[in-house]
Amino acid sequence: MKVITIDGPAGAGKSTIAKIAAAKLGFTYIDTGAMYRAITYKVLKNGCDLADSAKIIALAGRSEIRLDNGKIFLDGEDVSEKIRTRQVTNRTSIIAAMGEVRKILRDKQRSFAKIQNLVMEGRDIGSVVFPDAEYKFYLDASISERARRRYAELRAKGSDVKMEEIVKDINERDNLDLNRGLCPLVIPKGAYVIDSTNKTIEEVADIIVTHAGK
Ligand code: DC
Repeated sequence: MKVITIDGPAGAGKSTIAKIAAAKLGFTYIDTGAMYRAITYKVLKNGCDLADSAKIIALAGRSEIRLDNGKIFLDGEDVSEKIRTRQVTNRTSIIAAMGEVRKILRDKQRSFAKIQNLVMEGRDIGSVVFPDAEYKFYLDASISERARRRYAELRAKGSDVKMEEIVKDINERDNLDLNRGLCPLVIPKGAYVIDSTNKTIEEVADIIVTHAGK
């Protein structure tokens, strides 16, 4: 089946754009960040020590993750909203740095492509999960624009988060995602790089659809 990969840092617009591109192409949209978040949510809910990697890996292995129509289900429970809290967001980079957890989720991500065409977004999709994908994109934007988008998104959900907190969180997450030893965020070989700073969501989605629709 066909796979379009979209990688990039937090707040670059990957989710929104991948969703639109998938709808236009009639492909299934897969948010792999949500999968890492779901495992993190479960780890926190179970009160696991974040240093206890053996327990976390076992827990990840026993998890049933299903992505359906923009929603994510963990062991049958809809956790779509619960995985977006600041607490889960800030812990996810720690869980995502564990090789065995990555392997469990990578196998699952690859299995999705066996039965459907996909637009899959994350940090290592074009570099590690589907290095041979025909269409790879790397989406970036300036840090101030990424922070502005995240701020607007969280405020719209009723959060009273401050801009300084968002900038700090994004910087910390960039640092962890870019510098971890395993599957760090990189521009995948052969990826088409799009800077979305001064582009609308529709413009970026159209670039992707035009390229991939060829
Ligand atoms: O895209 P997001 O903000 O929902 O991602 C949440 C975290 O998961 C982020 O810190 C990086 C990590 N992640 C990853 O390591 N690999 C992926 N393929 C997707 C996300």
